[in-house]
Amino acid sequence: MADRSAFNLDAYLADCRQHCHRFLARQIQALPPLPSPLRDAMEYACLGNGKLLRPALVYASARACGASTRPDGFAAAVELIHCYSLIHDDLPAMDDDELRRGRPTVHRAFDEATAILAGDALQALAFELLAEDPCVQSNARTLQKCLRLLSRAAGYTGMVGGQSIDIAHADQTMNIEQLERMHRLKTGALIRTSVELGNLAAGNEHDERLPSLCRYADCIGLAFQVQDDILDVTGETDVLGKTGGADAARNKPTYVSLLGLEQARIKAQQLTQEALDCLAGFGPEAEALRAMAVHITRRGH
Ligand code: IPE
Ligand code: IPE
Ligand code: MG
Ligand code: MG
Ligand code: MG
Repeated sequence: MADRSAFNLDAYLADCRQHCHRFLARQIQALPPLPSPLRDAMEYACLGNGKLLRPALVYASARACGASTRPDGFAAAVELIHCYSLIHDDLPAMDDDELRRGRPTVHRAFDEATAILAGDALQALAFELLAEDPCVQSNARTLQKCLRLLSRAAGYTGMVGGQSIDIAHADQTMNIEQLERMHRLKTGALIRTSVELGNLAAGNEHDERLPSLCRYADCIGLAFQVQDDILDVTGETDVLGKTGGADAARNKPTYVSLLGLEQARIKAQQLTQEALDCLAGFGPEAEALRAMAVHITRRGH
């Protein structure tokens, strides 16, 4: 695999993370106060120690496709859908986890009702921020496309659909095709949409490179959840910021439980290489995307 050390991914990710967090903090602070803990719970859920890889993918794909500004509303929207999905994923009715991003989960820090409502409110805010991004203000057609992409990735045909398969299959066996389908929905769909939104933000409605970019995203999206499954087995709780061994404890089918650690690692590597191959038609402006593909299977949390 090519040496990508020339591109400083750590600095790039740190900058994207800080930029998107500042934007999100301003948006949530601007909400009118309520006589309830809702706003505090929303802040707690989305301004903590997350990696913000999905916003970085929005920014990096916008850059790869020639955008000159950062589409903050798009980046924030995918992060908010992700944060909402994590709040609900951790609830007692789902994975029943008590630790997330190194802190108590939202339902532990607040209460279950507040956690459910904070997730709901973050989801709604995601669509509001997407619709208000300057790059769709004078283009109703692009706005419509963006809304369709995000709703499909978030709902039945994406994350929620994947989560429903996950919940339905605890304690049950799955074959590798079924597992891959679940992963592509619960994690892959939002990652793919992050890249598609970046492409649309660059104003390239009919970009012929979009299919390769989508294939890139599908590869890293699957690799991302394969790596999450690996880390659930190999990672230390204090490094992960979430409880290690949670999948085995709940008898979840994962890439590791189906293939074993070694084959799961090989699968993740193959997907990384495939993702890099998909970017062959892009020049140096896609270096952040390339570095992220490699990073996803090397990360430790
Ligand atoms: C964790 O996602 C949940 C999955 C979809 C596997 P991340 O690993 O991106 O979590 P944060 O946002 O950095 O905490
Ligand atoms: C969750 O997958 C994916 C989501 C859509 C939130 P996991 O249940 O494996 O995520 P973690 O390991 O709790 O972060
Ligand atoms: Mg889960
Ligand atoms: Mg979970
Ligand atoms: Mg997991």
